[in-house]
Amino acid sequence: MSDDVLVAVFNADDGGMDAETWTRLRSWLQPEEVERADKYKDMEARASFLIGRGMARAMLAEATGVAPGDWRFSEGPHGRPEIASPDTPYRFNLAHSHGVIACALAKSRDIGVDVEFLDRPDSSHDVAARACSPDELADIASAPEDGRKERFLVYWTLKEAYLKARGLGISVHLGDVAFLIKDGEPAFAPRGSLAGADTRWHFRLAQPGPRHLVAVAVDTRNGATPNIRFQRFAATRFPAA
Ligand SMILES: CC(C)(COP(=O)(O)OP(=O)(O)OC[C@H]1O[C@@H](n2cnc3c(N)ncnc32)[C@H](O)[C@@H]1OP(=O)(O)O)[C@@H](O)C(=O)NCCC(=O)NCCS
Repeated sequence: MSDDVLVAVFNADDGGMDAETWTRLRSWLQPEEVERADKYKDMEARASFLIGRGMARAMLAEATGVAPGDWRFSEGPHGRPEIASPDTPYRFNLAHSHGVIACALAKSRDIGVDVEFLDRPDSSHDVAARACSPDELADIASAPEDGRKERFLVYWTLKEAYLKARGLGISVHLGDVAFLIKDGEPAFAPRGSLAGADTRWHFRLAQPGPRHLVAVAVDTRNGATPNIRFQRFAATRFPAA
């Protein structure tokens, strides 16, 4: 896949999976992941976990030729899954929300992805006041009233994607992970505790369906501009062996 960044999106609305596929996804997990999958009482959460880990392994297998079941993950800073073996320049990140699961894969770059559900209850006013910069708040306020929640979620998704790419967790004030959006293009404008942070990051937004938003954060510190390819991930893409 050369220097392409792949962002694959699985949508549960596209159809169910057969029992054999679920069994296969489970067979690729390492013991700690099986234990974790079994702890989920909520079936949607369990399914999202299995599909996400399955997508990461299937995409790594496509990119490298190493079989899905041969990938081992460890937990990095703040719980981010990292590739423990085999040794590889590839990195991935996962996100899931309400039936949509996204997996972003890049080579020799940090990468983060977030999915938000646009129909979630509107708590944007309170949360925005805590999580947004003054410029972001002004931009949200300037949107038509019925578009403010979505505008807020655009910023929220970008913030999460960046924090996930850096594996920073909740240690950073979200208002400092700030963006300016011009003509639909997000530009990173870190401030406060992040003032002076490297801005060589590329951000992309996509709407994989009417109710979901996806943001991806890609490290561009090596100077090369990434070719970001969004794609739909169908269950048939999980390899049979
Ligand atoms: C841990 C965190 C990344 C989980 O986010 P979430 O919205 O609950 O869930 P998402 O669907 O976006 O992401 C979950 C996936 O991200 C990955 N992940 C977990 N911790 C991660 C971290 N610290 N960094 C990057 N990716 C992480 C995992 O693959 C996880 O899925 P899996 O365990 O099923 O494989 C998030 O809570 C976090 O720390 N965000 C930082 C930003 C922040 O402060 N947010 C405020 C939250 S109230």
